[in-house]
Amino acid sequence: MTQISQKPFLDVLSGHRQPVPPVWMMRQAGRYLPEYRELRAKAGGFLDLCFTPEYAAEVTLQPIRRFNFDAAIIFSDILVIPYALGRSVRFEAGEGPRLDPMDTPEQVTGLATQADFGKLEPVYEALRRVRRELDPNIALIGFCGAPWTVATYMVAGQGTPDQAPARMMAYRHPEAFSKIIDVLVENSIQYLLGQLKAGADVLQIFDTWAGVLPPREFRRWSIEPAKRIVAGVRAQVPDARIIGFPRGAGAMLPAYVEATAVNAVSIDWAAEPSLIRERVQNRVAVQGNLDPLALIAGGAALDRAVDDVLANYASGRLIFNLGHGIQPETPIAHVEQMIKRVRAYRG
Ligand code: CP3
Repeated sequence: MTQISQKPFLDVLSGHRQPVPPVWMMRQAGRYLPEYRELRAKAGGFLDLCFTPEYAAEVTLQPIRRFNFDAAIIFSDILVIPYALGRSVRFEAGEGPRLDPMDTPEQVTGLATQADFGKLEPVYEALRRVRRELDPNIALIGFCGAPWTVATYMVAGQGTPDQAPARMMAYRHPEAFSKIIDVLVENSIQYLLGQLKAGADVLQIFDTWAGVLPPREFRRWSIEPAKRIVAGVRAQVPDARIIGFPRGAGAMLPAYVEATAVNAVSIDWAAEPSLIRERVQNRVAVQGNLDPLALIAGGAALDRAVDDVLANYASGRLIFNLGHGIQPETPIAHVEQMIKRVRAYRG
């Protein structure tokens, strides 16, 4: 009989398949939880929630207490880097992030090259607090946005359906655009190293908008920057464990994994199982990839969707997760149903 690991999440990342896949959810701290909504209202603004260590630590731990996930992810946002670079970043209720757009080479000339990491000290303090309070067998994940995805918000000043403003700037003004990317690469390396120092066990790089790029652009703006971040972090911390999430990468995933040297990739729900098994999971661990809508739907549809993920990937190294973040309208009972089914698996 296979020994059940005490630290299944870290063990999968170190190359050891687990008989019961470890499980957590992207955006597991968030609006589907009443205790989150309560603290969010008390904090005032979203950034106040992120930058008050006591609150950020509490919100990080809420889903762990409720569901006993195998990993906690520090509560913050990918847009704290532009904020620390001196850009204006606001979160308007129900509308998502708003930044001052930066879509001309002239504006890029004025971009700070070095973030004020003093502004991110509360994130480090929240990590220290969580690490103190968290069960030592539960992994703590630090994160940053991938340069491409962060740049899409910096250029457009907000999210857009296909991030056309950043794609356009990358074609029209590749030099100015690559300066933004370079600044984000350097500061993300420092930020991730700071998170490791503060107690993060694992790092995840979120490239939510990777899938809007054609292959040539994908290599330049998603793969290359991620590769530099991984190398920059490992130059200081050689055994740093890093998960990449190039959402929508599709057939580009094997190239991403090979070039970046991440320990795992997070895959979205549209991923094609045989491609993932034969050309991705044979090299690294895979994290994913339940459709968040199946989690909202619940019932037999949810059971079937959970079983599909397990059937597709649990014979290899798998971290069970969603294909993207959990949505605010998701019933808590459906999350419980999902976890119960995953933990009943023995493969
Ligand atoms: O996963 C977690 O529980 C940790 C916290 C976390 C948040 N954002 C909290 C958040 C993480 C890992 C992120 C990453 C993030 N932020 C990404 C990449 C991952 C992804 O989901 O695609 C992106 C693109 C952002 C930028 C961002 N932040 C957007 C587009 C929005 C608005 C959309 C939305 O869901 O409201 C945010 C706000 C945000 N970040 C919320 C949370 C819980 C909701 C804000 C609120 O509570 O009002």
